Amino acid sequence: MVYTNHILKVGAVNNGAGRPRGLDAWRKFWQASVAVGTEELRLDPNQRSIESRDFEAGLRQKIVGQDEALQAVVDLYQVFRAGLNSPGRPIGNLLFLGPTGVGKTRVVEAAAELLFADPKAMIKVDCAEFQHSHEIARLVGSPPGYLGHRETHPLITQESLAASHTDKLHLSFLLFDEIEKASDSLWQLLLGMLDKATLTLGDNRRVDLSQTMIFMTSNLGGGEITELMTGGMGFAPAVRVESRPQLDEKVERTAAEAARRKFSPEFMNRLDKVLVFRPLRRGQLEEVLEMELGQVQRRVLETAGRRFSLRVTTEAREFLLEQGTDQRYGARHLKRAIERHVVYPLARLLATEQVHLGDVVSIDGDRGKQRLTFSKDAKRALAEGPQTNTCGLVAVAAG
Ligand SMILES: Nc1ncnc2c1ncn2[C@@H]1O[C@H](COP(=O)(O)OP(=O)(O)O)[C@@H](O)[C@H]1O
Ligand SMILES: [Mg+2]
Repeated sequence: MVYTNHILKVGAVNNGAGRPRGLDAWRKFWQASVAVGTEELRLDPNQRSIESRDFEAGLRQKIVGQDEALQAVVDLYQVFRAGLNSPGRPIGNLLFLGPTGVGKTRVVEAAAELLFADPKAMIKVDCAEFQHSHEIARLVGSPPGYLGHRETHPLITQESLAASHTDKLHLSFLLFDEIEKASDSLWQLLLGMLDKATLTLGDNRRVDLSQTMIFMTSNLGGGEITELMTGGMGFAPAVRVESRPQLDEKVERTAAEAARRKFSPEFMNRLDKVLVFRPLRRGQLEEVLEMELGQVQRRVLETAGRRFSLRVTTEAREFLLEQGTDQRYGARHLKRAIERHVVYPLARLLATEQVHLGDVVSIDGDRGKQRLTFSKDAKRALAEGPQTNTCGLVAVAAG
């Protein structure tokens, strides 16, 4: 349509001789061309590719809440896929702040699982382990001639970064966990990496980090955030006197202030984004519980030769939530409660051969005794057994 229009208009100023002749004709020709240009096609920069939509949906299946952080990771990935990341810099430098056990490390693992099919496909530096200068050698290797030069294999090398690469995706993740514990020498290295996307190893080899996303986590301000959100209660209540936007703003401010107090302006200026993770509310902990029970069921289904199915009653779930709620440790406490009250007893049942292939094991809560009870209906084999959901987990209302 646009093209036809163009032809007609050009034809009109062509003097019938193929080309416009004279200044006037040229002016008309030019105007006609510009007129064609004004037929704009509106673009939608908010539209996402199927790939990044899938990535985001996958993250949301694995992570409860923390929307802003998920969004930041997806945005960064999209910039990288479009090839628009700044040359000579890492793809992105993200700092995750917030209390313990709310998903800071898990977000990076979940992203690795989705993009590289392995939650461990990253270089993870636990900053607490590199507090002394001699420990830095484990990170970058020691200079030639130093004692132990040959034995020390640096943690960050071009090869280890490339380990996560696939044919289609030349991307690497570098995670610095709990950076508030980093020593001064680690800090210096980190500043260089964030700025220039290079790291010089002990033997002078250079590591290029321009295809790398750098994630940093810190619990800084976590205590204050939790206090703000819970008012000292065990978990963040669903409704608070304060409105959510007000509270969100306070949380952001608290975290940002804590970060500015502790970290130098040079460091803060090298970050692309600071994401504040929120404490998990009761309903969110329930969602994490479902995910974790699904994981237990998956582990059980993978036990060679003795696959069985789990039914977990509402009472048992409530018991686990009660036992597993402690705002100081977030979902970590919940995971521990599941290990202690579900996984260990199941392991003992397996070891003593009380559970066999096809059994359906029911887990119920015993309020009086403050524990879980285990029973099975031996006749209900897995093959003809109850309808299970994708995890093989059967929810049963407390009766
Ligand atoms: N928001 C969340 N969504 C899903 N699981 C979570 C979430 N937060 C914590 N968990 C669970 O708790 C564990 C510990 O969380 P983690 O991300 O390691 O905590 P931290 O915020 O201290 O880095 C995770 O491995 C995961 O199983
Ligand atoms: Mg962590």
